[in-house]
Amino acid sequence: MDSAYGPWGIVAGGSDGVGVAFAHGMAARGINVVLVARRVPVLEAAADEIRARHGVEVRTVGLDLSAAGALAELEQLTSDLEVGLLVYNAGADTRSAAFLDKDLDTHLELVHRNCTAVLEAAYRFGPPMVARGRGAVVLVTSGAAWAGGATLATYGASKAFDLILAESLWAEWRSSGVDVLGLVLGRTDTPSHRRMREADGESYGGELADPGEVAEEALAHLADGPTWIHGSENPTGGSPFGALSRRDAVLAMSRGASANKEASAKR
Ligand SMILES: NC(=O)c1ccc[n+]([C@@H]2O[C@H](COP(=O)([O-])OP(=O)(O)OC[C@H]3O[C@@H](n4cnc5c(N)ncnc54)[C@H](OP(=O)(O)O)[C@@H]3O)[C@@H](O)[C@H]2O)c1
Repeated sequence: MDSAYGPWGIVAGGSDGVGVAFAHGMAARGINVVLVARRVPVLEAAADEIRARHGVEVRTVGLDLSAAGALAELEQLTSDLEVGLLVYNAGADTRSAAFLDKDLDTHLELVHRNCTAVLEAAYRFGPPMVARGRGAVVLVTSGAAWAGGATLATYGASKAFDLILAESLWAEWRSSGVDVLGLVLGRTDTPSHRRMREADGESYGGELADPGEVAEEALAHLADGPTWIHGSENPTGGSPFGALSRRDAVLAMSRGASANKEASAKR
């Protein structure tokens, strides 16, 4: 794994949840990791644990990926490293609400972190991999990408961007030896997800995926792109909405989002 995807990997959003699980999985395979996140104490604690458990080198970069210039700074701070694996994980919504119930800056920050910065990460870290003829890029996306839905507008649209970006890069880079995977997640037990539930006053029912299992499965299937749907019986298959009309798919997605709220209201 190290020779195909190392010696360094970057996890954007790598201090907790799925991101830190990716970092542990990469470190266990002998890859040194760069962890990027905003809260420096959480980042440093994650780095210490990875060093202690796996004996690899870990570099931390405290950055807000929704800020202009973040990716240029990340590229500059890692310019001395050979990066063979990029995982762009940061991307969760912090509060589910109707489009007009969030302020414009909140929407724009999410678009910057989930679209502009993802594109920039691929554009800045992809070329050396393509030139070397080896490496991998994982863009973490969501089932919210499959169709629009009430209370999901900007988040779902950004995740659809990530899905299509990953699939397109897979198509372009597959002959150059660089693997690209659009990793579609369902509800997963991460600190962000728990914070969102608390902020919404919600307690979702149903099963949550385990971040460690998500990361292990993805690392085992880096070469099985363009798309990997965690938790699906057919992980390389298409949209779970199948042949539904777009209208019915959007209504089903909207019902799914409001069912979560109703289920918690009853508890
Ligand atoms: N959890 C789920 O149920 C679920 C479901 C479907 C898809 N997903 C997808 O899975 C990915 C991971 O989700 P998650 O639940 O673990 O939450 P997340 O908030 O996207 O990821 C957490 C990590 O990202 C960092 N982060 C978040 N915003 C950042 C920013 N602006 N700049 C730098 N770092 C940032 C966090 O550290 P700091 O807060 O310290 O910055 C933390 O290390 C996301 O792409 C999400 O869309 C998750």
